[in-house]
Amino acid sequence: MLVVGAGQMGGGIAQVVAASGRRVSLYDTAPGAVERGLESMRKSLGKLAEKGGPDPDEVLARVQPVDGLVQAELMIEAVAEDAEVKEQVFRAADKVLPPGAVLSSNTSSIPITSLGAATGRPESVIGMHFFNPVPLMGLVEVVRGLETSDETAAAIVELARELGKTPAEARDFPGFVSNRILMPLVNEAAYALLEGVADPEAIDTIAKLGFNHPIGPLALADLIGLDTCVAIMEVLHEGLGDPKYAPCPLLRQYVQAGRLGRKSGRGLYRYER
Ligand SMILES: NC(=O)c1ccc[n+]([C@@H]2O[C@H](COP(=O)([O-])OP(=O)(O)OC[C@H]3O[C@@H](n4cnc5c(N)ncnc54)[C@H](O)[C@@H]3O)[C@@H](O)[C@H]2O)c1
Repeated sequence: MLVVGAGQMGGGIAQVVAASGRRVSLYDTAPGAVERGLESMRKSLGKLAEKGGPDPDEVLARVQPVDGLVQAELMIEAVAEDAEVKEQVFRAADKVLPPGAVLSSNTSSIPITSLGAATGRPESVIGMHFFNPVPLMGLVEVVRGLETSDETAAAIVELARELGKTPAEARDFPGFVSNRILMPLVNEAAYALLEGVADPEAIDTIAKLGFNHPIGPLALADLIGLDTCVAIMEVLHEGLGDPKYAPCPLLRQYVQAGRLGRKSGRGLYRYER
């Protein structure tokens, strides 16, 4: 299996795939990104091992860093949430991976149909949308593009189960199901902050205790990455044509300042690095 992108999600996906006993090649264009990904995996696996999880060394031995796209029966793409970048990865993967191999994307919102159209095998292109942190979250949202075959969908549903996740199928509409529901919540919380209705801690406490959510929307936005949240909201806004999905200016400004959330050490909150 080939995982492209070794950030928060790609690293987590590679970890879960390797923990299931499969070999995984991990590729990222940014210098040092694969090494950072391996480091995060080691930390996560160490914590899981204390609770009876697999031996971290054995799992990590199945992860092979690679310098480019390589042959595999399945690609899981987890690069930045940018349609042009993803389409370019799919075009290149279509040339490298053997005929019949499945090309999947962990995209939060970019149309699977357009990723399929960037290849000569749209029937083998599908969304395999994991949740953050991947080793702990039980859901995979399986998204079929217009041309995705039943065979491809069945294979990905089966794989999700084998990785210990629960698959749920959604159609290829902007934001699918998960982010169409989640992002308006995050955006409204950002507006409540911008308008001075409450401070971040109070907003998140109200959501956690009032709605029984395990994490508040602002802390969750920081976990996802504010850049990723803004990118998803832009896809929802453009794709559904309703101004209610436009990203709150506060989120845009934080992204402009480089406050991307946990991954940059500062977002709506500050984090120890
Ligand atoms: N963060 C979340 O909570 C979350 C949840 C579900 C899905 N996603 C989706 O997963 C994807 C990745 O998100 P993330 O949070 O891991 O982002 P991230 O910023 O942590 O990582 C993205 C990685 O992709 C690499 N990259 C960029 N262009 C590349 C290319 N052409 N080839 C190889 N690597 C490349 C970057 O160097 C970076 O390491 C996005 O599509 C995002 O929408 C994110």
